Amino acid sequence: MTELDHVVVLAGGLSPERDVSLRSGRRVRDALEEAGVDARIADADAALIPALLADPPTAIFPAIHGSYGEDGAIREILALVGVPYVGSVASACHGAFDKPTAKARVAAVGIATPESVTLPREIFHDLGATAVIDRIIARLGLPLFVKPARGGSSLGASPVRTAAELPTAIVSCFAYGDTALIERLIDGTEIAVSVVDLGDGPQALPAVEIVPAAGQYDYTARYTAGQTAFYIPARLPDDALDAAAKAAASAHSALGLRDISRTDLIVSESGEIYFLEVNVSPGMTETSTLPMALDAAGHAFGTACLTLLRLAAARGN
Ligand SMILES: Nc1ncnc2c1ncn2[C@@H]1O[C@H](COP(=O)(O)OP(=O)(O)OP(=O)(O)O)[C@@H](O)[C@H]1O
Ligand SMILES: [Mg+2]
Repeated sequence: MTELDHVVVLAGGLSPERDVSLRSGRRVRDALEEAGVDARIADADAALIPALLADPPTAIFPAIHGSYGEDGAIREILALVGVPYVGSVASACHGAFDKPTAKARVAAVGIATPESVTLPREIFHDLGATAVIDRIIARLGLPLFVKPARGGSSLGASPVRTAAELPTAIVSCFAYGDTALIERLIDGTEIAVSVVDLGDGPQALPAVEIVPAAGQYDYTARYTAGQTAFYIPARLPDDALDAAAKAAASAHSALGLRDISRTDLIVSESGEIYFLEVNVSPGMTETSTLPMALDAAGHAFGTACLTLLRLAAARGN
């Protein structure tokens, strides 16, 4: 397999998920160094393109979350520079990062996703917030879940159990993005199913069940050790685990994703599996679910990162 001279782990970026990305990037870099690879971290800033041109790495591992790590922008740049990278191509990232677009594409291949409406900030202003909010509740009922249409790490996301909570939830959401995705809230078991392709085609890893101590999988619950309990495999019947693995693999292929993805799902109390979203640059921190799932499947983290980089280098794009 292709030898790696040196590799670059892209981490940082300017989204609100910068700190998480730096943690993900350091973990990937450390694991690669332990595996004997010369790995350096680079941020997405004005120094990036000159550095890549001056000393092209054999391959790049993108670990930037949120907008432009996950919306395709940074991968357009990597393609322009001509350095192979791990993960999905820019055009696929566009469709995956935008939650309403991703929901429509996975729904088209038969995967359930919570009923929803997508509305930009201006519509509340121009048509009158009260009238719009009343129609949302009349159509979708309660409880609801509000989040930015493009975002991550639960920033700007909140559950809405009463009509009185909806305006505040929408305002919080607009602090993180200009478009709100308002979904029916699904009660049930939250799981994350990662898909990786280590050379034998995309394979779903064991489902990781997520049980936040405070009940909600918010930013603190995600990135503070001990705030969330994880169960691998998820404590679900075998048929639900099979269906979840199939849903994640189908979402990966329906969205044209490559190498690595993580699909977030909720299994309702009646056993139906709902797609929430897919991440093309999943978290790699100590509390992130993809590294846990790799471990449960018997893949050492550093070796898996190394294999992904070697495959990208061999592919050449
Ligand atoms: N329709 C819903 N019903 C119930 N809970 C939901 C719903 N949508 C989202 N959630 C909760 O909010 C969390 C964040 O939602 P989601 O995964 O869609 O967005 P995100 O902020 O992009 O997350 P990530 O950091 O995983 O990229 C979920 O992990 C889940 O706990
Ligand atoms: Mg998520």
